[in-house]
Amino acid sequence: MRDSLKIIPAPNPPYNSAIGYTTSRYVSRTYALSTKSLGFEIVRDHYLVCLYLELCYSLLKKTRIWFLAMPEASKQATVITVSCLSGGSGKSTTVLNLATMLSGKGKTLAVDFDPQGNLSQWLGWTDLSNEPTIAEAILPSNDRVPITEIIKTPKNENRSNTLFLAPSDFSLAHAADIIAPNPGRERFLSRALKSITDEYQFIVIDSPPSKGILTYNAILAADFLVIPTECTNKGVMGAINTVQLVRELAEIDFVVPHILGIVPTRDQWAGANQTRMSKAAMKALEESLPSIRLFSSLRQSTIVQQTNMAGWSLAEAGETKLSKPYVEVINTVIAKING
Ligand SMILES: Nc1ncnc2c1ncn2[C@@H]1O[C@H](COP(=O)(O)OP(=O)(O)OP(=O)(O)O)[C@@H](O)[C@H]1O
Ligand SMILES: [Mg+2]
Repeated sequence: MRDSLKIIPAPNPPYNSAIGYTTSRYVSRTYALSTKSLGFEIVRDHYLVCLYLELCYSLLKKTRIWFLAMPEASKQATVITVSCLSGGSGKSTTVLNLATMLSGKGKTLAVDFDPQGNLSQWLGWTDLSNEPTIAEAILPSNDRVPITEIIKTPKNENRSNTLFLAPSDFSLAHAADIIAPNPGRERFLSRALKSITDEYQFIVIDSPPSKGILTYNAILAADFLVIPTECTNKGVMGAINTVQLVRELAEIDFVVPHILGIVPTRDQWAGANQTRMSKAAMKALEESLPSIRLFSSLRQSTIVQQTNMAGWSLAEAGETKLSKPYVEVINTVIAKING
């Protein structure tokens, strides 16, 4: 994979340099002022005080004893987008599972960035006609609603304030038309999320099935990309086109997410045997995208439809085998964050 497809490490927390900068500026400014107007002893005392401050600063830095507010200010959510340029490939299912499971590890925001609004519906928001949605949060300046005002809690399940939803409905398609002529239109979702990345540990974004400004926004807002792929010819083409799209975005100098891998979905088995269609699709994925990791597959099962409708993850429904690919994705994300 090209270097530019790799994730760029987050910069040092701003307070590190800010305090260092302020302290050393304070040292030199006080020292200079003192030498001009005061006697040698005062100068020396000021200088010693400043040295002491500088020493305290280095000790704090080394021992990581910070004032309580400081670590909070530096927290940045890990953003995962789920995308595949093929309809019905399991994108919304993947977002529901990842977001619900990640919410057990830290405060999580699920962003429904598809005008179909399936994710919002599965989380209980079936009628958003009188509610502001993610569409309002990405509008150009005058009409924009702060993203904090559109965020909701799932209606169908009490998630103890760990899982939140930025909902969507058909109005997002209209918003896409409105932002289309604006400069920087591919990064309007990124801009909307910027103000809340320090409030969440994870943000998981759903995206539409086709190429277009909404999909570009979803991909470019992410640190990591997961590509759910239906085990059919159409699904494989969708995965190939998605990887190609990310490479094209990188070629024109967008900072693109790291592709975590592909989750083959709707893997069909007849008894103990995988169907020829599913087998062929998995083989085609391995051969056409050799540098992209294939996670375990999600089998075709009515249980998936049932858990989706209930707004549950497969894991919390006790479906250990079915939830395996999502456990793998989450473990990989956590390992990347820690590593
Ligand atoms: N493994 C599976 N077994 C059975 N049904 C599944 C499975 N995965 C997804 N589904 C069902 O297939 C349909 C499409 O899945 P999903 O909505 O997650 O795909 P999508 O990629 O988000 O679709 P779209 O492109 O329309 O947004 C849904 O009704 C979902 O419940
Ligand atoms: Mg969907």
